[in-house]
Amino acid sequence: MSLAPTPPVRAVLFDAYGTLFDVYSIGVAAERLFPGAGERVAVVWRDKQIEYTRLSSMSGRPRSFRDCTRAGLRFAARRLDLALTAPAEDELLACYDRLDPFPENRGVLEALRTAGVRAGILSNGDPDMLEAVVRHAGFSGLLDPLLSVEATGRFKTDPATYALGTAALGLSAAEVLFVSSNCWDAIGATWFGYTTLWVNRFGLPLDELGAAPTRIGTSLADVLSFFPSVSSPRKAAP
Ligand code: LAC
Repeated sequence: MSLAPTPPVRAVLFDAYGTLFDVYSIGVAAERLFPGAGERVAVVWRDKQIEYTRLSSMSGRPRSFRDCTRAGLRFAARRLDLALTAPAEDELLACYDRLDPFPENRGVLEALRTAGVRAGILSNGDPDMLEAVVRHAGFSGLLDPLLSVEATGRFKTDPATYALGTAALGLSAAEVLFVSSNCWDAIGATWFGYTTLWVNRFGLPLDELGAAPTRIGTSLADVLSFFPSVSSPRKAAP
């Protein structure tokens, strides 16, 4: 991990999907429904979901994240020539409420909580989606606030969405560590002024956007490198 010096940070905001919660299970469920095409469904679906959020923001046409997600799935099925029944659509969408956290996450959140470092979520997800996935993971007592961009009528990387975090925490952007596994999100937050960590779980190249996150890591545990006084959590049971 790159260990560039940083200003002291006093709170942490996490992205949700792919960062705290593993979206891999979506590909597994898609593979069960569409043998041989699960991974392609998951990739086209995610790309379209994010594309629709950006189009919604850029065109000033507010749309819920669940709606962008449903629309992305419908497009993916049509693009791949797969028959998407209503029950299959509901089953795949419901995955978003039941994503598992990455194994190291509970220990990291508990270490932050023990050290008195406030840690919350700032996500494109609708408020009810965030509440459901946080509850399912058993993280309700560990994450506060749960900030949804919904209140802005925009999606990331619109600065109005990142401004929710500083307003809710009453801190400057540089005093908040924003953590995302989505490189474009980490860079959007960097542009806004947050101190940032890109958790590059899959060894991807840095996006070519002319900016870089404050630090790049490979696991959520790298959050703790910003808090030298916080002791590392015990390793999660395999
Ligand atoms: C989120 C998406 C970008 O949680 O992963 O905001």
